[in-house]
Amino acid sequence: MSLRRPAKDQPVSFEFNDLSLEAANLILAKYPEGKQQSAVMALLYIAQKQNNNWIPLAAMKYIAKFLDMPYIKVYEVATFYTMYNLAPVGKYFVQVCTTTPCMIRGAYKLIEACKEKISDNECELSNDKSCSWMEVECLGACVNAPMMQINDDYYEDLDKQKTLDILDKILNGETPKPGSYRGRVNNEPENNRKTLMDLKNA
Ligand code: FES
Repeated sequence: MSLRRPAKDQPVSFEFNDLSLEAANLILAKYPEGKQQSAVMALLYIAQKQNNNWIPLAAMKYIAKFLDMPYIKVYEVATFYTMYNLAPVGKYFVQVCTTTPCMIRGAYKLIEACKEKISDNECELSNDKSCSWMEVECLGACVNAPMMQINDDYYEDLDKQKTLDILDKILNGETPKPGSYRGRVNNEPENNRKTLMDLKNA
């Protein structure tokens, strides 16, 4: 689970850049007049994305003003949900699923790779401060287990070596190709099986 305490070092100010402002206004337009506060979660997500994957207190205050709601209410939402990071996690935020289907398919080999390449401990920045990793619960890609998420992308059908290669790439500032690392298209079955009864290809 991500650290739920705000970072000690906080920027003094925050405001949406043009891209975030446009995204925030698009979200706001979906709510009826007077109900814009319901957009708080989406706006926190936009702020997190703009700010290298974490939400400073200044962003919570900015969003409170933006939505004309009390700061404490924005703070409560941001500190309750674990998908919001309250401290720097690096430009590349690696989340490794270790729930049962991924675990029995080798998720802890992926954790070993993260420890070797990023940091011994989860929620700790790499030496160059560009990334961090943490264990998370099911990310909904169990069919292609084991898997991990880096920022918005899923990397699936992994093993230790493939994970090491992917992490090498992000540590070099490259963006590795997302998706299955065994060439599967989406969630297609292995060995061209079409039904659970189709055992001849199992
Ligand atoms: S158990 Fe890992 S994605 Fe569901």
